[in-house]
Amino acid sequence: MEGLFITFEGPDGAGKSTQVHLINAYLKDMGYKTLVTREPGGTPIGEKIRNLLLNCDHSEMSALTEMYLYAAARAQHVGQLIKPALQEGTIVLCDRFVDSSIAYQGFGRGLGMDLVEAVNLFALQDIEPDLTLFFNIDPEEALKRGRSRSGSPDRLESEKLEFHKKVYKGFCVLQEKYPWRVRKIDASKDVNTVFKQVLEQIECLLRCKK
Ligand code: TYD
Repeated sequence: MEGLFITFEGPDGAGKSTQVHLINAYLKDMGYKTLVTREPGGTPIGEKIRNLLLNCDHSEMSALTEMYLYAAARAQHVGQLIKPALQEGTIVLCDRFVDSSIAYQGFGRGLGMDLVEAVNLFALQDIEPDLTLFFNIDPEEALKRGRSRSGSPDRLESEKLEFHKKVYKGFCVLQEKYPWRVRKIDASKDVNTVFKQVLEQIECLLRCKK
């Protein structure tokens, strides 16, 4: 039996991680086998690449290097964790995936959607999310939320607001390009209201696919 691959995307501080954990608990209670993972990361090698990417000391990192490192972490993640889990029938809940590369490196860094999609084609190894939840919130608002929650911002979070606005535009373009896969969640609302929207989308997917 094939599992389901659900990805959570959006600006920094949009509240994705909280919802990933809430929906994971809900699905487990329902008796589903689930796996929670994240990008960059998810595997020991991926977590090492994550440290390279998010380290504020690496301000000289070029946009191309950044794109390839995210793709390298993803290749490892897909091969070692995501593909085997899906083959076992697991519901994989992934905090960020390839759409983040398109939004951050393609739009934020200005490398363009085509280049980032082309490079990631090989990293994806024929895997595509069944559903992507785009946590739609004004990037300025999201950053404020994120900063009040966590400690010091990482290398990407420390970028100027202009960068985050371009990233946000990237997510909107993705939603328009792939509307059947990328669903908008109004992430400006409180945790319970957001959870209801997440649940509605996932239940809809479960009804269609199972
Ligand atoms: P993370 O702490 O996971 O951010 P958040 O908690 O806001 O989701 O850090 C991941 C950062 O890496 C985040 O700023 C988005 C960025 N990123 C990319 O630029 N490209 C990518 O392909 C991925 C997966 C993440």
